[in-house]
Amino acid sequence: MGKKNGTSNGMEHENGKLQTGEIIVGDSSEVLKSFPDETFQVCVTSPPYWGLRDYGIERQIGAESNLDDYINNLVMVFREVRRTLRDDGTLWLNIGDSYTSGGRTWRQIDKKNKARGMDYRAPTPDGLKPKDLIGVPWRLAFALQADGWYLRTEIVWNKPNGLPESVKDRPSRMHEYVFLLTKSERYFYNYEAMREVAANGKKRAGRSVWNINTEPNKEAHFATFPTALVGKCLDAGAKPGCRVLDPFFGSGTVGLVCEIFRLNYTGIELKSEYIEIAMNRLSHARGIIKIPTKHEQRTALFADF
Ligand SMILES: C[S@@+](CC[C@H](N)C(=O)[O-])C[C@H]1O[C@@H](n2cnc3c(N)ncnc32)[C@H](O)[C@@H]1O
Repeated sequence: MGKKNGTSNGMEHENGKLQTGEIIVGDSSEVLKSFPDETFQVCVTSPPYWGLRDYGIERQIGAESNLDDYINNLVMVFREVRRTLRDDGTLWLNIGDSYTSGGRTWRQIDKKNKARGMDYRAPTPDGLKPKDLIGVPWRLAFALQADGWYLRTEIVWNKPNGLPESVKDRPSRMHEYVFLLTKSERYFYNYEAMREVAANGKKRAGRSVWNINTEPNKEAHFATFPTALVGKCLDAGAKPGCRVLDPFFGSGTVGLVCEIFRLNYTGIELKSEYIEIAMNRLSHARGIIKIPTKHEQRTALFADF
């Protein structure tokens, strides 16, 4: 097994073309501008949730003190995602909710999860009260719809192994949303691949509640996608040999699943420390390309497998 050329990890698609994976360091709203229209078939992503984590880096999304700024920043990123998505492409957007701070202006450092400690908490948005659920996912979904996206469905990601929250005046929340958004009225959706086996053994149409356990990731200091969740999105949205985008790549779970599915992928991540984690996860078995700054320099890092 020798080194393959610098733009590929050497695995072949069904159509004989080589599979490629790339990770780009930078701010996704900027990096995406360098891609031509209609580059990607599918985008699967999980942006930073609002007010939950401080990634400690300039241009990070999620640490805005104003909720509207956070929503607007994401709308701008996803506007570029829409432009670079093929006309029949799909966006699978996982986003979690949070509560108003109830007047607290800081959050205790979580010893097990250092990134969880913020040195501030965002002020309560206008019109909300202490202890209100903010409804971030739907606010974002409506903002994206107003910006031109087709909002096709919300999927409830139920976490059967979710840890109980330390609250006694409401049920512990065990779910998040994944929104299916599209660029056009008609788009590619693999209905057959999404069909499920019902209790009576018969096949039925895929449903909008997905029961998927969270998966631990010791290296990452933030919530990572379960591979099974990404797999379902790609089952529905990917065509053989297509290119998949994750503009908030984190530890690279989307890349990992693309490696398994033999799909091309592009990941964008602001924090180089997390890119190292992604590289570790991806490069053990396969080769990937790292692009340090906006396509300037392409370095084949691993091609032996
Ligand atoms: C919730 S994590 C994504 C986790 C990922 N789905 C995984 O499985 O590892 C969100 C990521 O977005 C990154 N991020 C924040 N602002 C960004 C920006 N402006 N451009 C690119 N990445 C950004 C953070 O550094 C973080 O790694």
